[in-house]
Amino acid sequence: MRAASVSDYRELARRRLPNIFFEYIDGGSYAEETLRRNVADLEAIALRQRVMRDMTKIDMSVETLGQTLKMPVGLAPVGMAGMYASRGEAQAIRAATAAGVPFCLSTVGVCSIEEVAAAAKKQGGTPPWFQLYMLKDRGYMRELLARAKAVGCPVLVFTVDLPLPGSRYRDMRSGFTGGTPLQTMMTQAWEGVSHPAWTWDLFARGRPHTLGTVQDAVKGGRRVTDFLAWISRNFDRSVTWKDIDWVRESWDGPIVVKGVLDVEDARAAVKAGAQGLVVSNHGGRQLDGVRSSITALPKVADAVGGDLEVYMDGGVRSGLDVLKALALGAKACFVGRPWAWALGAGGQKAVEKMLDTLRAELAVAMILTGCTDVRSAGRELLDRD
Ligand code: FNR
Repeated sequence: MRAASVSDYRELARRRLPNIFFEYIDGGSYAEETLRRNVADLEAIALRQRVMRDMTKIDMSVETLGQTLKMPVGLAPVGMAGMYASRGEAQAIRAATAAGVPFCLSTVGVCSIEEVAAAAKKQGGTPPWFQLYMLKDRGYMRELLARAKAVGCPVLVFTVDLPLPGSRYRDMRSGFTGGTPLQTMMTQAWEGVSHPAWTWDLFARGRPHTLGTVQDAVKGGRRVTDFLAWISRNFDRSVTWKDIDWVRESWDGPIVVKGVLDVEDARAAVKAGAQGLVVSNHGGRQLDGVRSSITALPKVADAVGGDLEVYMDGGVRSGLDVLKALALGAKACFVGRPWAWALGAGGQKAVEKMLDTLRAELAVAMILTGCTDVRSAGRELLDRD
């Protein structure tokens, strides 16, 4: 099968990846209501078709936090991408650089911040935005911030919707989590044997399989699962808005708070001095049953859009969805699963093609709604009787 739409990469990833990783990417928490809502609520929005306007020129570039993006899309932080393809985060930032969009590196990436920044710089690109989870060991967090600064990360994305990880039942069913060490080892060995193309790529070209940025902190960790267990023990539930001040002591660049759905929280983010926020429910992977990102977006954008940059993620599966999000107040949106699926399906090339598809779809959506410039996209682009 050749991928035509963004979602086709899901099927290709399903075929190529070990089940434990496919399910890890694909799944959400609990009954996956929010995961479904993210996609369904975007699908339910109608664009307003307009015709017979001169659409020879359209502009999809945006200025954001000191960067010019060639289109209003970024790659959201996704953990463990280096287990979906060899040195996955480095491949993904090369694809993002080629497309002129930002790549946000997860705290729990396989490639370290240094490796990913070097991959971008080699291509004349910008280092990754760095996503931070609040960990109990503040001394170690300070070191992480210093490292992000040293490699030139332009933006810090502070994820606030994960004081503890939500339960993802698919990971238990697939044998990725929750088994005895022997069961986990057997599952992983079987997955390796039954997916030879993936195994060859990961073991010949993709080692080491650690979480590169945090590996020094995990004593005796050898496998990715050891690192994930360490991370979940070290998430800090005591975190409050005051901790943004603490982060500020070690980070003088822009801070984007990721994981806001509520207007009061959005106002608190402004008060705390954030330069941006991402309306997000972590792709339906945290508190199941909360509203979709796209339905939370307009209220948040109306309340704080004049004070900081508002982005969104969750359920974006096409360039048409991108325009819907812009119409409802986002300055840009991020995609998580789409790039993880593409990476798992075919590495850097597939991520590049997936981004090309988003761009081509966004162009059609703009031309047929009469939107010449993404910066002026508003609710007039939607058909809402
Ligand atoms: C994520 N997400 C995420 N977010 C974050 O801040 N740090 C992380 O390490 C991860 N890891 C992660 C792994 C996987 C496999 C997925 C699918 C997601 C959430 C991510 O940044 C984003 O919020 C969602 O993926 C957006 O929803 P869509 O685009 O996947 O529908």
